Amino acid sequence: MTQLQAQTYNPNYQYQHIEVKPVTGRIGAEITGIKLSGDLNQDVVAEFNHALLKYKVVFVRGQQHLTDLEQEAFARLLGTPLNHPSVPLKDGTAHTLSIDSRGGRADSWHTDITFLPNYPKATILRNVIAPSNGGDTVWANTTTAYEDLSPELQKLAEQLRAVHSNSYDYAKPKGEYNEEGRHLFRTAVEIETEHPLVRVHPETGEKTLVLGHFFKRFSGYSPTQSRRLFDLFQEQIVQWENIVRWRWAEGDVAIWDNRATQHRAINDYGDELRVATRVTIEGDVPVDVNGQPSTVLKNVTNQDISNLRSEEGRIYEKAS
Ligand SMILES: [Fe+2]
Repeated sequence: MTQLQAQTYNPNYQYQHIEVKPVTGRIGAEITGIKLSGDLNQDVVAEFNHALLKYKVVFVRGQQHLTDLEQEAFARLLGTPLNHPSVPLKDGTAHTLSIDSRGGRADSWHTDITFLPNYPKATILRNVIAPSNGGDTVWANTTTAYEDLSPELQKLAEQLRAVHSNSYDYAKPKGEYNEEGRHLFRTAVEIETEHPLVRVHPETGEKTLVLGHFFKRFSGYSPTQSRRLFDLFQEQIVQWENIVRWRWAEGDVAIWDNRATQHRAINDYGDELRVATRVTIEGDVPVDVNGQPSTVLKNVTNQDISNLRSEEGRIYEKAS
C-alpha cells in the first residue's frame, strides 16, 4: 500500500508524480506528465485516483498509443472492469464498448448504468474519431449540487429513495441507440434497483445525488409527484456552476467518477462521425446517510448477449 492509499482522503494532497490543472472552479482537471498504460506504478495510479476523486472528471490528451486492450489494461489498475448487461462488446475485446455515432447518441443527462446495484465507480472513455466541430461532452458535479441545496431540501433528499431501471421513461433519449440496440437494451435484461437519492461516497465521504435518465420513480410517490421531485433535484445538478465541457481531439481520454457525476454528449455535429471506446469499472453498492444500502427490486435475464458483438453501429452474432 502506498503512502497515499494508506491515508484517508485528503483534498489538499500535493501531487508528486503527475501535474493536475483544474479546468473549472468545481469540476474537471487536465492531467499531464502521464502516459496511460497497464504498467503505471502504484504511486502514479494512487495520485491519478486522488485527482479523479477531487476533480470528478480528469482529461489526458494525446493518448493515441492506446489500443483497446491497452485501455483495458489501464482500466484494471483502477479496479475490476464491469461489462454492460445489455450492450454487446466490441469484437476482439473483453470489456470494451464501441461508442459510435452510427449506433446512437447519448444526448441526455445520466450516470452510467445506474439500474445496476453496483453501477460503475468510474468510466474510461477514449476518443478514436472526433468530429471537426462539435460533439463535446459535458459533466456535472453531483456533490456540489447536493451542497448547494438548502438545509431543508438536503434533509428531504436524504430521505428519498428512487427506482432506476433499464426500461427508463423520463427524459427519453431519442436516438441514443439504433433500433436494434435500443430494443436489446430494453429487453435483454429487466433490472430495477432502488438507490438512495443521496449516497455517501465510499472514498471521499462526500454526499452526492444519484439521479439521471435511468430514474423511473421515487418510492412511495405518485408518477406526478415523482416527476416534480425529479425535476427539482435534476435541475439543481445541471446548474452551469456544476458543469465542465470538453472538446474532444483524437487520442483524448476522459475518466470520470461515475459516483459523483452525470454526463451527456452534445448532439450538434450533424452527419459527422464520432467514435470512442469505453470501459467501466465496477462500483460498490451505494449506502444512504444512515448506512442503508441500495436494494435490487428486479433482475431478469431474457437474452444472453455474450455471443453478440458491436461494430460501426451494427450488432451481429459472433462468428466463433
Ligand atoms: Fe454515459
